[in-house]
Amino acid sequence: MGRRVLLLLLMAFVMPGAPIPEPLAVKALRSQRLSSSFISRPAVVMKYTIHYFQQKIDHFGFKTDKTFNQRYLIANQHWKKEGGSILFYTGNEGDIIWFCNNTGFMWDVAEELKAMLVFAEHRYYGESLPYGANSFKDSRHLNYLTSEQALADYAELIRHLKVTIPGAENQPFIAVGGSYGGVLAAWFRMKYPHFVVGALAASAPIWQFEDMVPCGVFMEIVTTDFRRSGPNCPETIRRSWEAINRLTRNGTGLHLLSEALHLCVPLTNSQDVQHLKDWISETWVNLAMVDYPYESNFLQPLPAWPVKMVCQYLKNPHVSDTQLVKNIFKALNVYYNYSGQARCLNTSETTSSRLGSQGWSYQACTEMVMPFCTNGIDDMFEPHSWDLKKYSEDCYRQWNVRPRASWVTSMYGGKDISSHTNIIFSNGDLDPWSGGGITKNISDTLVAITIPEGAHHLDLRANNAFDPMTVLLARSLEVKYMKQWIRDFYGSLRKK
Ligand SMILES: *[C@@H]1O[C@H](CO)[C@@H](O)[C@H](O)[C@H]1NC(C)=O
Ligand SMILES: *[C@@H]1O[C@H](CO)[C@@H](O)[C@H](O)[C@H]1NC(C)=O
Ligand SMILES: *[C@@H]1O[C@H](CO)[C@@H](O)[C@H](O)[C@H]1NC(C)=O
Ligand SMILES: *[C@@H]1O[C@H](CO)[C@@H](O)[C@H](O)[C@H]1NC(C)=O
Ligand SMILES: *[C@@H]1O[C@H](CO)[C@@H](O)[C@H](O)[C@H]1NC(C)=O
Repeated sequence: MGRRVLLLLLMAFVMPGAPIPEPLAVKALRSQRLSSSFISRPAVVMKYTIHYFQQKIDHFGFKTDKTFNQRYLIANQHWKKEGGSILFYTGNEGDIIWFCNNTGFMWDVAEELKAMLVFAEHRYYGESLPYGANSFKDSRHLNYLTSEQALADYAELIRHLKVTIPGAENQPFIAVGGSYGGVLAAWFRMKYPHFVVGALAASAPIWQFEDMVPCGVFMEIVTTDFRRSGPNCPETIRRSWEAINRLTRNGTGLHLLSEALHLCVPLTNSQDVQHLKDWISETWVNLAMVDYPYESNFLQPLPAWPVKMVCQYLKNPHVSDTQLVKNIFKALNVYYNYSGQARCLNTSETTSSRLGSQGWSYQACTEMVMPFCTNGIDDMFEPHSWDLKKYSEDCYRQWNVRPRASWVTSMYGGKDISSHTNIIFSNGDLDPWSGGGITKNISDTLVAITIPEGAHHLDLRANNAFDPMTVLLARSLEVKYMKQWIRDFYGSLRKK
């Protein structure tokens, strides 16, 4: 498992699944136990307008007044000037329209909260490029890609919305985000509590830094997911690394393995083999993140409970090396060929490589230093220790910068955050990122919501007939807290 594998994992974009008719029994159970607003209904049409706001490239220095256009989206079909609210998505590392498309939850609750929806794009992603095509050219152009600058962009944008949209000035804003966007939502509430009354931070690994959680926890959760889906599945995967190593000791074996895995480009040397193993590891990790209970489309279309499907092919660890890699191929095919379109497996093609991942790679080399490790015992991967020195060398080679591993803790408080208020941390037990998330209540208003059958920010996805009861409960609790914040806001307005 090289650094490459784990740098880009926060890129969890998931497309909404096709609507599926709801079984009658589930329907009955649902209406019995949940408020009517959570009964499955036809997908909401996502209609928004696109806007641009001129942002300072550097909020914290006065040497330059250069600006760039930050993109944001507004949907106000359900917004009410009387007693309404504004849900503000703190964009993460990608095109904001992706996040808008994949945050059906906000669309589903807009009417109930009389909410305007705003989706703000993170600088250096999508169209919000401070130096256009030169934004990733070198460390000088990348210098303004930090979480602090991004949060300042959100603050300036909210100020702008309050000034320019009649009726918005006296409304409660709530920050919402998933994954790195969830981290930003939480940090935004901590740093700018005067701009948002609260934050919903879904699948936000705000403790996946320094030694706040053990570096192995992430891959252990991936392994646990595979074990849940097939008792022998992790053992089969663990043995596959040795099988690959044995097979690739000579040219005949390299050829045999390339054939067995239907690789587009045959393996020729040990570097290729390492790359292959990284690519396979990344595939298992991605599958764990998107182990959703219904058909979905995560760049590649996937069946419901894809890990279960994968593990059907990985039931027997005690077969010949050749048979084992043939079974691994069938399992990989679930991820790469569910649509039946793949003619061969392309190890240059990863989830992250398709998305223009340069920005995140740079962020991981500066502020977002997340230690990961494996030991091959508590997880199903080859042992790999966390080596900050080597990590730093790689970063220096790639971006000419060195990571500051403790800065995020100095800036945002690490585990000492109990003085903050009104943040919901939601996590799915299936999500490897829950290992670095907050899964226990910190105070009355720093609340943890756990979703036993949830993968990566399942709660932010649109309602689906196959949603487990636990995610419906999580969503209704989230709405309950948001309504409370909104009531408190209007209550304190009246007192003024
Ligand atoms: C968002 O969804 C629309 C409608 O399904 C689709 O046409 C568009 O390509 C999607 N955009 C992104 C960036 O996902
Ligand atoms: C090459 O590796 C294969 C697969 O492990 C093995 O069966 C074969 O005997 C090896 N050939 C030589 C010449 O070492
Ligand atoms: C993908 O699936 C299609 C349809 O089942 C099949 O024809 C094709 O060979 C598969 N591709 C690979 C790489 O196995
Ligand atoms: C494999 O993927 C890479 C990156 O997307 C692409 O450039 C290349 O053409 C693909 N190769 C094949 C054989 O499909
Ligand atoms: C945190 O407290 C809330 C309110 O009491 C409760 O609903 C929730 O289950 C608690 N979370 C955890 C993880 O115990």
